[in-house]
Amino acid sequence: MPDSQTTRAAVAKLYDTYPFPPDPLSDDLPPGYNWRWHWPSAYSFCTGQKPARQDIRILDAGCGTGSGTDYLIHLNPDAEIVAIDLSEKALEVATERVRRSGVLNGRSRPVQFLQLPLEDATQLSGQFDLINCVGVLHHLSDPVKGIEAIASKLAPGGLLHVFVYAQLGRWEISLMQQAISLIQGDRQGDYVDGVKVGRELFASLPDNNRLVKYEKERWAFENQKDAAFADMYVHPQEIDYNIETLFELIDASRLKFIGFSNPQYWDITRLVGKSEDLLSRTEKLSERELYRLIELLDPQLSHYEFFLGREPIAKIDWSDEGTFLAATPEISPCINGWPSQNILDRDYQMVSLSAGEFEFLKRCGTNKTVADILAEVNLDLVAARGLLAKHLIFLTPNPS
Ligand SMILES: C[S@@+](CC[C@H](N)C(=O)[O-])C[C@H]1O[C@@H](n2cnc3c(N)ncnc32)[C@H](O)[C@@H]1O
Repeated sequence: MPDSQTTRAAVAKLYDTYPFPPDPLSDDLPPGYNWRWHWPSAYSFCTGQKPARQDIRILDAGCGTGSGTDYLIHLNPDAEIVAIDLSEKALEVATERVRRSGVLNGRSRPVQFLQLPLEDATQLSGQFDLINCVGVLHHLSDPVKGIEAIASKLAPGGLLHVFVYAQLGRWEISLMQQAISLIQGDRQGDYVDGVKVGRELFASLPDNNRLVKYEKERWAFENQKDAAFADMYVHPQEIDYNIETLFELIDASRLKFIGFSNPQYWDITRLVGKSEDLLSRTEKLSERELYRLIELLDPQLSHYEFFLGREPIAKIDWSDEGTFLAATPEISPCINGWPSQNILDRDYQMVSLSAGEFEFLKRCGTNKTVADILAEVNLDLVAARGLLAKHLIFLTPNPS
């Protein structure tokens, strides 16, 4: 196995040649939102309640060309932000991206880009409340070392958002990666040549070839850009996970696994819900066995995305009626189309609000409690709880 220095040099060369993601620079603020990068939404997902503070510190570990960093800055105006990466060229693009988009205008808290290997994150001063590490750990020669380094920088009560590759949905990709490197032979590490070889292979294989069909169905649109094609097919270092190896990585972090940030995929009822017998038998499985079953039955999964946390992390229980009624609700900013009865939720799914739900949401953020608002609008308790379940509101608990 190549040592970490050799791997890092090869990875930095790839991203200096093809900075990623190759999203165009823009003179506008980043459009919309990704709720995973919005501290109150991420915190609310993980704990059930709105965080007490917004003046937090955020680390974007492996920021690339800064598309995610641009959102982290934009969505968290009171946060101090540090973004690190190996690649000098990617950092140059990131710095220019956030300068041009305007997210820095009027900010009082600092934003800093640093060329630093993630494994050396321990050198950063202080601790962070939110660490974002998307698409990076699987490119380290020793991801355990990487996750240990960033986990050590997570403050008590802090959250770490991770995205790493999944084996099952990347099977065809891994075959093509191996084919390209066989053909490249001693030219491996010449990424421009790797892209050329890969494109020629796709062009010459028959249309009904499995690798070609998969590329066309899933990736061809984004892979029109050489940087995306190179990131996918000619990477010098990639580790793909399955549920078992993923949880080895998670356990190594010594952080608490809070949950996948795409919970819809991890719902067993969408796969075996037609059979009460199967569903009840799955209840006997451990959490990890259940996840393994889901990925085996739906092997299209190409990545895992999830939150870890450093204790104390407690999920508030809103099932008690008094606790729920005494809470103060605020409308989530990760909603599109508000104020209207037809809106898009945090995952950009359409939600049609009843007149009562609409009136309830209009009164959120006015320091009124759930009980106060329910006394004013035509909505029952179950429907009010539904707004929380649909992630349209944040709640702050009050002693009842
Ligand atoms: C696929 S890109 C992801 C960029 C960004 N996080 C995103 O999702 O848009 C991977 C990035 O991780 C960086 N990277 C890889 N290994 C690293 C390491 N050991 N330390 C710091 N950055 C690293 C690369 O330079 C590259 O910019």
